[in-house]
Amino acid sequence: MNALSLPFGPSWATPPDAELGARSERERRAAAARLARYDEARIGAELDGVGWSLLEGLLTPEECRATAALYEDEARFRSTVVMARHNFGRGEYKYLAYPLPDAIAAARTALYEALLPTARRWRLALGEDEAPLPASHAEYLALCHAAGQLRPTPLLLSYGAGDYNCLHQDLYGELVFPMQVAVLLSEPGRDFTGGELVLTEQRPRMQSRAEVVPLRQGDAVAFAVRERPVTGTRGVYRVQMRHGVSRVRTGSRRVLGIIFHDAS
Ligand SMILES: [Fe+2]
Repeated sequence: MNALSLPFGPSWATPPDAELGARSERERRAAAARLARYDEARIGAELDGVGWSLLEGLLTPEECRATAALYEDEARFRSTVVMARHNFGRGEYKYLAYPLPDAIAAARTALYEALLPTARRWRLALGEDEAPLPASHAEYLALCHAAGQLRPTPLLLSYGAGDYNCLHQDLYGELVFPMQVAVLLSEPGRDFTGGELVLTEQRPRMQSRAEVVPLRQGDAVAFAVRERPVTGTRGVYRVQMRHGVSRVRTGSRRVLGIIFHDAS
């Protein structure tokens, strides 16, 4: 299908990086400088080893509060998902509309570049690199949009007491960037209890294995979206990854999710 014929409104069809160009160059440079504080080699090694890597203190408490407060600004979002209606769990999330808030657009661009070396390595290892991943997120989004994946996927999630998110994979079409990022906007122990990010890894002919990611407010975690390569004694095999959130026992927990592929 020709992308131009898709029934999406102008805000979804706006190429996000054309808009980012003039207005947010400063934000983009700031996001890249912020990410430069982290050791890319460590992030790559942790993603290779266990499928996730922590970026401690990516956002300040004030930035977390401001980002969490966007949740009430309906004009920022293209859709709301009430998880119980789809048997996804309990709680709610909202997909941001284009144009994304400047800081989120800039973070998405900079995180793409930081994760790109690992993403390329994984795709090579899994034999999926016939169309190599482009160097910039703008080029990657152009590929998504040409494939009919036009709708923005960054989202805010809101959990209250009793809410949880079932194990899942965030797939929205044929194009899948191999990792995504979640940023915890609330402080465990103070704002909520329970509500831990859980990752599972399903290995061929073996039982599944779970990891709990120890997040504090402002911490980001990069993790595998669908699968990752693991080197065993007889070569490379693929493990299926899923993620979810354990039941929030008290309080309110908000999260920013940054997914790099757009949705069909
Ligand atoms: Fe998810």
